Amino acid sequence: MGRTLIKGGTVITASDTFAADVWLEGDKVAALAAPGTVPGTADVVVDATGQYVIPGGIDCHTHMSLPFGGTTASDDFHTGTVAAAHGGTTTIVDFAIQSKGQSMRAGLDAWFAKSEGQVAVDYGFHMIMTEANPSTLDDMAAMIREGITSFKMFMAYPGVFLVDDQQIFRAMQRAGELGALITMHAEIGLPIDVMVQQALAAGRTAPVYHALTRPEVAEATGTERAIALAEMAGVPVYMVHLSAQRALERVMEARDRGLPTYAETCPQYLFCSEDDLRGDPGDEWKGAGYVCTPPLRPKHHHEHLWRGLRNYDLQVVATDHCPFCMKGQKELGRGDFSKIPNGMPGVETRLHLLWEGVREGKISMNRFVEITSTAPAKIFGMYGQKGTLAVGADADVVVWDPNREKVLGKDTLHMNVDYSPFEGKKVIGTPSHVFSRGELVVKDDQWVAKQRQGRGRFVKRSTFGL
Ligand code: URP
Ligand code: ZN
Ligand code: ZN
Repeated sequence: MGRTLIKGGTVITASDTFAADVWLEGDKVAALAAPGTVPGTADVVVDATGQYVIPGGIDCHTHMSLPFGGTTASDDFHTGTVAAAHGGTTTIVDFAIQSKGQSMRAGLDAWFAKSEGQVAVDYGFHMIMTEANPSTLDDMAAMIREGITSFKMFMAYPGVFLVDDQQIFRAMQRAGELGALITMHAEIGLPIDVMVQQALAAGRTAPVYHALTRPEVAEATGTERAIALAEMAGVPVYMVHLSAQRALERVMEARDRGLPTYAETCPQYLFCSEDDLRGDPGDEWKGAGYVCTPPLRPKHHHEHLWRGLRNYDLQVVATDHCPFCMKGQKELGRGDFSKIPNGMPGVETRLHLLWEGVREGKISMNRFVEITSTAPAKIFGMYGQKGTLAVGADADVVVWDPNREKVLGKDTLHMNVDYSPFEGKKVIGTPSHVFSRGELVVKDDQWVAKQRQGRGRFVKRSTFGL
């Protein structure tokens, strides 16, 4: 690994923009220095003239190899994290699952078994809680000792993941005692299920009915309820994959009242819409590739979400990366939209897409770094080690070429999936060099490190400290 000098670039952090040479020693950032002043000889010199030097992306919402809807997400911890690195993401936080009747330890062991020896960049886990009983509430403390300091609970997916308000409330109280963070999938799943059954009974089976049976109000109400439960428990809460204006307004109201309410959105909610779910004329099935939950919303929501990102009402953009191939996987739902496995690919394209937001003046470069790296590091207990460029931090560094073009598509990307929701979309701005803990792993869109599988390290995260 040795010593690397990244010279001539402009460093962008969440707060500052400055010309500096960046010196990496071993797996850490060793110095940020005025251009041309770093003493010593480097083993590797990268000329970053005309480029930006930013902290590696942190995607705090991925689902590698997730079992869902009778199949398994098509990216595993190897393919998914190699793809992440190609897109400038050097840390992921995935979701282990405590299944009903099972301990969290068993759930965590199952996810370590899937990930160990596979992961190409650094990774952590949240724990999905499918029940909050005395035993699982006890387990939460053991998880924190393992560095799993955040838990996801669902108001949606009855019979699979849904937990009732009493359990959510108990888990929130326990999280408060432990300094853990509860993250919420906030759509009210019971009435949604009725709407789904009614649509199917009426012969409405096409992919677009996935959206029409999960209306915005179901997410807004879930969001409001989650915030109320967190307020009663006196704890922070984090909304995952927020998709819609009214849900965002619930978050804004809470934050205006001073509550520690946080929320993430995802690129699909900023760039795709219900129109994509309708498919093409004569090919409504194409919409299956856009089935994710919460569903894609009509286009007018985009501007609200961008405004939320600009105004700090939304803190994070993660991907909810959960790909399923059209062939053999999404196909399970031909003739019944409720059987289309939920999820879209995205771990590789997050920075490319958000940079379009920078180019269009929707967010600043500093805000780009903040929502893709710094804020998730802070919220999920990795800041200092990850999420910024500072002396002593892990040398997860991306050299970002703002002028290089890329056409997104299944053949130009590395995710293990047979379509791209962004097929043919031209973006300007890509990583030229990606370092993971000081090692150059991707150069000019090619994997260059010796090792891929198993080079990523598990990140033990701290408790919630904002
Ligand atoms: O469609 C989605 N979001 N799939 C993954 C599961 C979840 O709810 O995050
Ligand atoms: Zn979810
Ligand atoms: Zn998810």
